Amino acid sequence: ARTAAVIPAAGRGVRLGPGAPKALRALNGTPMLIHAVRAMAASRAVSLVVVVAPPDGAAEVKTLLDAHALPERTEFLVVPGGDSRQESVRIGLDALPPGIDIVLVHDAARPLVPVDTVDAVIEAVREGAPAVVPALPLADTVKQVEPAVVAGEPEPVVATPERALLRAVQTPQGFDRDTLVRAHETVTENVTDDASMVEQLGLRVVVVPGHEEAFKVTRPLDLVLAEAVLARRRL
Ligand code: CTP
Ligand code: MG
Repeated sequence: ARTAAVIPAAGRGVRLGPGAPKALRALNGTPMLIHAVRAMAASRAVSLVVVVAPPDGAAEVKTLLDAHALPERTEFLVVPGGDSRQESVRIGLDALPPGIDIVLVHDAARPLVPVDTVDAVIEAVREGAPAVVPALPLADTVKQVEPAVVAGEPEPVVATPERALLRAVQTPQGFDRDTLVRAHETVTENVTDDASMVEQLGLRVVVVPGHEEAFKVTRPLDLVLAEAVLARRRL
């Protein structure tokens, strides 16, 4: 079974604040995207990495990838992304060559995921799950609210789901290729992760243990944490 990783990296990173597209921001001197590509290439099972670049940044991303050494066994492709994460993933899937039968989808914004997590996801797909997500229990209690019409107004609480039953989902999410392609052809409404599209097909999605270091760089404080983790690894 040949495995490819599709890396959606086409977002602006609005919540991170002004600057370059998020995937191209540096973490301890190296672009976040390069860390993310290396995290996928670190798995011996991954033979191809498809980077879905900012729409106007494909050439720059190609140059970056040429400049940063990847393992000999890893090929890469760069394609320009779309307006939503979902569209960017679909563009990445369309670029996959024949012969790939397992696909990982991994956010460029999760540059520090350890290789053991990547391998655990691939292993669970190999063992027959059509969709696999790494996830962690929640630290915070979660409330469902009636969203405020005016920002900042108090929001009525609707419900408190039992925390022990909830998981915070990360990437890479792993899929049987044909299943994920079908999910992207079938599901038209907006979703925030790929596995939920497979759930909508009525197929079984399973969770494997995620990792704290697979957190998503979303807001400025996340950059501080990511650089501290890298410093601890001496990268
Ligand atoms: N992504 C993408 N194409 C888009 C939007 C997002 O490929 N049109 C990617 C991002 O580059 C990121 C991943 O999807 O690697 C997860 O999205 P998120 O963390 O929300 O990143 P951004 O959308 O860039 O950030 P923000 O929502 O703060 O603008
Ligand atoms: Mg976003």
